[in-house]
Amino acid sequence: MKAEEIQHEWETLIGYIHSHITGERKEHLLNFYTKYQDRLMLMPAAHKKEYHNAFPGGYIEHVNRVIRCAIKQYKLWKDEGADVTTFTKEELIFSALNHDLGKMGDEEHESYIPQTDKWRREKLGEDYMFNNKLPFASVPDRGLFLLQSHGITYTFNEMVAIQTHDGLYDSANEKYLKAYMPEQKPRTSLPFILHQADLMAARIEFEREWLPKFSGENNVEKPKKNFTLDGNKKPTSKSKALGNMKSEGLKNILDKL
Ligand SMILES: [Fe+2]
Repeated sequence: MKAEEIQHEWETLIGYIHSHITGERKEHLLNFYTKYQDRLMLMPAAHKKEYHNAFPGGYIEHVNRVIRCAIKQYKLWKDEGADVTTFTKEELIFSALNHDLGKMGDEEHESYIPQTDKWRREKLGEDYMFNNKLPFASVPDRGLFLLQSHGITYTFNEMVAIQTHDGLYDSANEKYLKAYMPEQKPRTSLPFILHQADLMAARIEFEREWLPKFSGENNVEKPKKNFTLDGNKKPTSKSKALGNMKSEGLKNILDKL
């Protein structure tokens, strides 16, 4: 990302706090984001390039996308009849804004630091590595701890949404999301809306990064040069049979007969 793009993302993110967060915590939140501005602005959204947005500015770009997707998901859920009176718009924005905050590390240490292993950097393309000085905590736990340790209050709905934003990709969330008893299920759709928004954003970021790489010369999806099963060819009994064949190797052998 260019410096101006990172700056723009930052201003957008701070804009959400100005326009959607109210009360005493608005000031605390602005102070928090100002205090850690440099770190947050340059943070990647992940430390491995196989994940998503693993580049400087990737974190805030991801967070802004999750906020936008969450607003759109909110409208979709509302239109389809979900009871959106069970949470507020402020809770929606606050949860989306802070869902991955735990990725920043603690007050002293950043989670993701430049990769020092030359081999891993060059061969695996890992620009970052996890900072071992940081004691383990899950991303949601660390995020919630950061908020409370800076005097930023959060509601019960926000706590559950941030805690479970990875949905059932994190088995620790089963206790909230896999309940069979109606009284144990979440009383609001906010956790599901946030999870869908995060899933959507991360998937789009993956596609942007990786799909162009797969569309080059080595693309396995593209037909091979002497692969004659094109749509214009008159169907013959051979090509009909070939069409149902799963093995690429067999298809090619038969195709040359
Ligand atoms: Fe996320």
